[in-house]
Amino acid sequence: MMKRSKLATAVALIVAGAAATAGEVEVLHWWTSGGEAKSVGELKKIMQSKGHTWKDFAVAGGGGDAAMTVLKSRVVAGNPPAAAQIKGPAIQEWAREGVLANLDAVAKAEQWDALLPKGVADVMKFKGSYVAAPVNVHRVNWMWANSAVLKKAGVAGAPKTWDEFFAAAEKVKKAGLIPVAHGGQNWQDFTTFESVVLGVGGAKFYQDALVKLDPKALTSPTMTKALETFRKIKGYTDPAAPGRDWNLATAMVIQEKAAFQFMGDWAKGEFTAAGKVPGKDYICAAAPGTGNAYTFNVDSFAMFKLKDASAQKAQADLAAAIMGPAFQEVFNLNKGSIPVRLNMSMDKFDDCAKLSSKDFVATSKTGGLVPSVAHGMAISPAAEGAIKDAVSQFWNDDKITVAQGVQNIAKAATTK
Ligand code: GAL
Repeated sequence: MMKRSKLATAVALIVAGAAATAGEVEVLHWWTSGGEAKSVGELKKIMQSKGHTWKDFAVAGGGGDAAMTVLKSRVVAGNPPAAAQIKGPAIQEWAREGVLANLDAVAKAEQWDALLPKGVADVMKFKGSYVAAPVNVHRVNWMWANSAVLKKAGVAGAPKTWDEFFAAAEKVKKAGLIPVAHGGQNWQDFTTFESVVLGVGGAKFYQDALVKLDPKALTSPTMTKALETFRKIKGYTDPAAPGRDWNLATAMVIQEKAAFQFMGDWAKGEFTAAGKVPGKDYICAAAPGTGNAYTFNVDSFAMFKLKDASAQKAQADLAAAIMGPAFQEVFNLNKGSIPVRLNMSMDKFDDCAKLSSKDFVATSKTGGLVPSVAHGMAISPAAEGAIKDAVSQFWNDDKITVAQGVQNIAKAATTK
């Protein structure tokens, strides 16, 4: 009798405990394209399998500018989501506001320090404590090409130098197709721009000019060359580019309307979602002149301080899930990126991801590994915004001379 009632009490406690641990996670992100939505759907599935409720807070707009504006208003109103896609130096800015939750308990239990490259772990920490969890490593300095279009135009393969690139672009144009698929937001312009700076000037120059914002590098002849090259590329885009979303530009390459796109490997998520195979239907190659370098873009979720205990538990489970091997694999297979968690098997990944993984390790040893400025990895959001605007003005207005463009960018770089 006694025994049975003890058992009943124990069962009742377990049931009550389980109920208390199921909570809601509201997750802010900007992953709304085909490949992106599939990827974030995997995280939702994992959270639901743990009994939690997923509240999707998607704010459309590649690159996340719109999402960040919405996030600010929610936090100011005292109603933050459990987690938000926040990256790079912006993590520190949010942490300084005192609104981020401390994730050290999960990080310790799951051994994050041992599972992450130190450089990445440091970005996820504020004053030594984890406040964000990373999901992946995207490579930004890619050039995507449609194999059939290249064949039609008589282009033998992915161009390796800018001269080869312009020769190929000319052939595509003559074949009546669009050489470069481009979209119309400033982060898309800058994604192309930073690959050009890297290809024209090399990794050291990229660091000096775009990361250290050294005025000497920013006003150097190499910068002039980069802007000339950048403007020349524009001549190979179509007139409908302004305002176009990045994934629609990728679709032009997928659908054999355009030959090339300069975009990070979230574009591969679109090819994958469309059932296309790398090496056959399309080519992934480093942007011209950047084969020995790697611009990285690490996506991460910062977690906000919450009051409700079940929501806190759900949030901790989300953090653990993000760094878990199952999620790291399935998410990145769909997203086009590679796992950020070390020592993961790459067996299931395609050749583009394998190349990314190999180059990530190789460039980290040679100094070729550089942070993507276009994707919030390097400089303060204020300076980044100002430089992006200057670059886009130059891209969109042919009346701005190269010399003026150089000056405008150098001035924007002094924004605090
Ligand atoms: C980047 C983000 C990627 C991808 C891209 C386009 O900033 O890091 O994960 O989603 O925007 O939306």
